[in-house]
Amino acid sequence: MVVDKFRVTPWEVSGEVDYNRLIEEFGTKPLTDAQIKKIEQIAGKSHHMLRRRIFFSHRELDILLKEYESGQKFALYTGRGPSGNTHMGHIIPWIFTKYLQDAFDAPLYFQITDDEKFLCKPDLSLEETNKLAYENALDLIALGFDPKKTFIIVDTDYAKSLYKIAIQVAKKVTASTAKSVFGFTNETNIGMYFWPALQAAPCFVPSIREGKNVRTLIPAAIDQDPYWRIVRDVAPKLGYLKTAAIHNVFLPALTGPTGKMSTSSGQHATVFTTDDEKTVRKKIMKYAFSGGRDTVEEHRKLGGNPDIDSSYQWLRFFEEDDEKLKQVYLDYKSGKLLSGELKQILVDKINGFLKIHQKKKEEMRGRLDEFLLKD
Ligand code: TYM
Repeated sequence: MVVDKFRVTPWEVSGEVDYNRLIEEFGTKPLTDAQIKKIEQIAGKSHHMLRRRIFFSHRELDILLKEYESGQKFALYTGRGPSGNTHMGHIIPWIFTKYLQDAFDAPLYFQITDDEKFLCKPDLSLEETNKLAYENALDLIALGFDPKKTFIIVDTDYAKSLYKIAIQVAKKVTASTAKSVFGFTNETNIGMYFWPALQAAPCFVPSIREGKNVRTLIPAAIDQDPYWRIVRDVAPKLGYLKTAAIHNVFLPALTGPTGKMSTSSGQHATVFTTDDEKTVRKKIMKYAFSGGRDTVEEHRKLGGNPDIDSSYQWLRFFEEDDEKLKQVYLDYKSGKLLSGELKQILVDKINGFLKIHQKKKEEMRGRLDEFLLKD
């Protein structure tokens, strides 16, 4: 979707995203207080990404929750396009997916699209994207997913099963739909025209594997929604239930409040899950956009602006404790907390998280096979 001030597609996010406008343009629904309360009630605990409306929009959530309460289980589905190392933005929907898996005792199907990234990135070979797929998979597993209930699909290694579903989907989608939904042109390679059918396929894998109709719920950032529009249109034509979705906003780029955290917007300012402590510190200290004043005196007198400060905005995603977050907000706004000190709080938070994450990744390296679905 392209509007005058910003652009959101599965391959590009730029400008200052107006999320209310996206809800209208994409035709999704805002997440309501009642829905949040219901999820929290089933989960038996709250989640900061719900409380802070980091998850803000949905499709078909009411029906899914009603079905769940009447005893009908659903499956979770989300994924990753392995074009490089995983960054801190990618793991936002996965952290929330873990909460949902625990809350609803739901299986998770996780697609890693080595084929997509080969097709859309001119410089990447299939060998490279396939290798990255298994590295990226460890970033999911490190978050604590249950191997008995988590099924990772690396596309080229589950191709036989996916292909049979993808061609059913592809037969129902015209090139003109693909052009208007994804902005494809005559110069787009034909692999990409077929690609949306492959991202649709895992929506139906749970039904096929379980031999009964199982609805899927997709937690992902809103950039992936164009796929779900197509899937939801096709699902009833193939005898499946319409997929439900719950959408998150983007972790902003460190460099400022426009666009999203993304490798293509600058490697140097992107925090990867593979970064060591020193690198994280360097990136945040150097690139995190500051809402502070020009001089310490001015800052002390007038206070900073947390609403545009990248370090504060990042803490909204990663600091789970509401009280701590509120204190940071108040201290920064009053001028008590300086920009450098706020950055240091973020550095400590991210490094604390990554220390555990990287250790977990190494521990799980030998157990990857337990999670993989293969033909
Ligand atoms: P990819 O690898 O671009 O993104 C992986 C997941 O991360 C989300 N995301 C973000 N969330 C918050 N802040 C950000 N800055 C940010 N950047 C990316 C994406 O929405 C996505 O959920 N084609 C897909 C792979 C895929 C997939 C799926 C994703 C296949 N099946 C089902 C979600 C659901 C891709 O390239 O994602």
